[in-house]
Amino acid sequence: MTLAEVDASAWAELKAAAADPQSAFHYLNLCSVDAGGRPQARMVVLRRVDAARRVLEIHTDVRSPKWQEISADPRVTLLGFGPQPKVQLRLQGSAELNGPASECATEAWSLLPRSTRSTYMGGPPGDDIGERSASESTAAEADGQAFFGVLLFRAETLDWFQLRHADNRRAVFAYDHLGALTSSRWINP
Ligand SMILES: Cc1cc2nc3c(=O)[nH]c(=O)nc-3n(C[C@H](O)[C@H](O)[C@H](O)COP(=O)(O)O)c2cc1C
Repeated sequence: MTLAEVDASAWAELKAAAADPQSAFHYLNLCSVDAGGRPQARMVVLRRVDAARRVLEIHTDVRSPKWQEISADPRVTLLGFGPQPKVQLRLQGSAELNGPASECATEAWSLLPRSTRSTYMGGPPGDDIGERSASESTAAEADGQAFFGVLLFRAETLDWFQLRHADNRRAVFAYDHLGALTSSRWINP
């Protein structure tokens, strides 16, 4: 495979994964840094991919710690692993947060099935289950849309690593703000 083919196949795989819950890359590890400088990681669902612009869409609750962390520092990493072949994708970039009132979140919400919408209707993520007062829970359950946010991740670099028996391979790619490939090279694994 050439560098151009590696880049194209990685993005084709990500795009396909957004639509396929069976794909290994349907779930990615979203990593951010908290206010204390401590690394934080959690799994998220890959909802949509714009391969030309190198943008990945993720949905989350705006009351969650990750939303607060990323508001303070938008630099994030997305990490994925596909077992066949054994490929790690490490994407670094920045996250744009689109809150409940945004056009982007309104549109994404309108496309969500009722079952997914209901996951935004509970109390704040991370709070004790018993903590909510009756009035709070009524207000929250009335409309999960008030807590629904869309994170748009724009990749600046891709670090591609393929684990093989003897000859592991690794390549790094960089993209400009519009998603165009600006550099690519093989590096020591
Ligand atoms: C397979 C899997 C997929 C998940 N997908 C999402 C997701 O798309 N969005 C989300 O906010 N949390 C998702 N979660 C939950 C997060 O991993 C995390 O536990 C939660 O959002 C709280 O994260 P935070 O405290 O860092 O904000 C998922 C968990 C698992 C196990």
